[in-house]
Amino acid sequence: MQIFADTADVEKIRELNAMGVIDGVTTNPTLVMKAGRDFNEILKEITSIVDGPISAETVSSDAKGMIKEAAELSKIHKNIVIKIVNTPEGLKAVKQLAGKGIKTNVTLTFSANQALLAAKAGATYVSPFIGRLDDVGEDGMQVIRDIVQIYRNYGFKTKVLVASVRGPLHVLEAAKIGADACTCPPEVIEKMFKHPLTDAGIKRFLEDWEKARKNFKK
Ligand code: E4P
Repeated sequence: MQIFADTADVEKIRELNAMGVIDGVTTNPTLVMKAGRDFNEILKEITSIVDGPISAETVSSDAKGMIKEAAELSKIHKNIVIKIVNTPEGLKAVKQLAGKGIKTNVTLTFSANQALLAAKAGATYVSPFIGRLDDVGEDGMQVIRDIVQIYRNYGFKTKVLVASVRGPLHVLEAAKIGADACTCPPEVIEKMFKHPLTDAGIKRFLEDWEKARKNFKK
């Protein structure tokens, strides 16, 4: 399963990329607002760090506006993927962009039926928001299971990109189900590294190494 960094924080992206654990990046207007910098500059910098799909979100409500934004964003780098909301106008834009060979990520997807429509329109990725579904008492992971099954049943090429991830268990479940990718906030990836036995093991090895060194010949 591919892991994407769900952030517009360039320094965090640089750090995660140096570890070799991320395959791409997703951004959204909220993440760009948190970064507090110019959107185009952020995107340029991210594309210079990560050699993989970088999702950039459009904000128009009509297909014409989304396509215009997509044309501008696509000029930044060949790895830019255009994020488009899962609405009738959004899917019109997806269909036209797919025809031009422009990759899309259909965002704000909350049901398997919405994901089915996104695949029909020719989306490259579909982003089901599992954390936000859990937040309202629905089972986000069940939506992932349903989408993976439906796409397999009919051989859709659209990739399932699990989004709105809240913790390491979401990542584990998504990988077991066979989702194509999971976009994670940096804090979630940092938690995935953590195990108390790893920390205790390092401490013990370092202590024992100090004792062992006393027996070394100079
Ligand atoms: C990524 O593509 C989504 O925009 C993001 O995962 C949403 O996450 P949130 O529900 O934590 O805002």
